[in-house]
Amino acid sequence: MTLDLSAVDLRTEVVGTERLVLRPFRPADVDAVHRASQDPETQRWISGITVPYTREDARTFVEDVATREREDRLGLSVAIEAGGELVGTGGLYLRGGRLGPEIGYTIAPWARRQGYAAEAAHGLADWGLGLGAPRVHLFVDVRNTASQATAVRAGFTAEGTVRACLEYRDGSRGDAVLFGRLAGD
Ligand SMILES: CC(C)(COP(=O)(O)OP(=O)(O)OC[C@H]1O[C@@H](n2cnc3c(N)ncnc32)[C@H](O)[C@@H]1OP(=O)(O)O)[C@@H](O)C(=O)NCCC(=O)NCCS
Repeated sequence: MTLDLSAVDLRTEVVGTERLVLRPFRPADVDAVHRASQDPETQRWISGITVPYTREDARTFVEDVATREREDRLGLSVAIEAGGELVGTGGLYLRGGRLGPEIGYTIAPWARRQGYAAEAAHGLADWGLGLGAPRVHLFVDVRNTASQATAVRAGFTAEGTVRACLEYRDGSRGDAVLFGRLAGD
């Protein structure tokens, strides 16, 4: 994975798209992250979210996990902001090995179906590819049709099904579609 971050300060890096600002998290985001994460769809598809999801979980994510991700140069965690409001969370994570950086996104239930997820995913992919990554990727549960449509809208191509690569909260496993976007796509 040849991503040139020599001129990038990941702690402060902001990615702008037509309508969105993809920026570092700040303490004022805790309440919105907490509220958004109560959504059953988010809890269904993001197994890393603990259920129940408390305000302390949101504070730990915003002030520790997401911030450390950037400080330790493991990825670009982003608060997705539209019109000055937090409408989602996402990131581009640098531990993808030969698949290249991995992208993730979630849009708050009050901000869905406005093209924000596709715009954020497209912006994150452009950012990684623009810094020299030959490819970026994301995994989507085979049953998550909304996120698969989002990936296609964001310029990704379905590359195949990876069996049993997802681990659910109850310990069972499931299949995901691997989506990729190359610099030339
Ligand atoms: C999946 C998710 C991110 C989509 O966010 P969004 O901002 O509403 O999506 P967009 O408005 O950018 O829509 C992108 C495409 O997905 C389609 N789509 C979005 N939600 C959909 C739904 N519930 N059912 C069917 N299609 C849907 C849109 O129609 C659009 O397709 P099009 O380009 O053919 O018109 C959002 O529903 C979500 O956060 N879900 C829970 C968490 C999650 O699944 N995260 C992704 C894990 S891989």
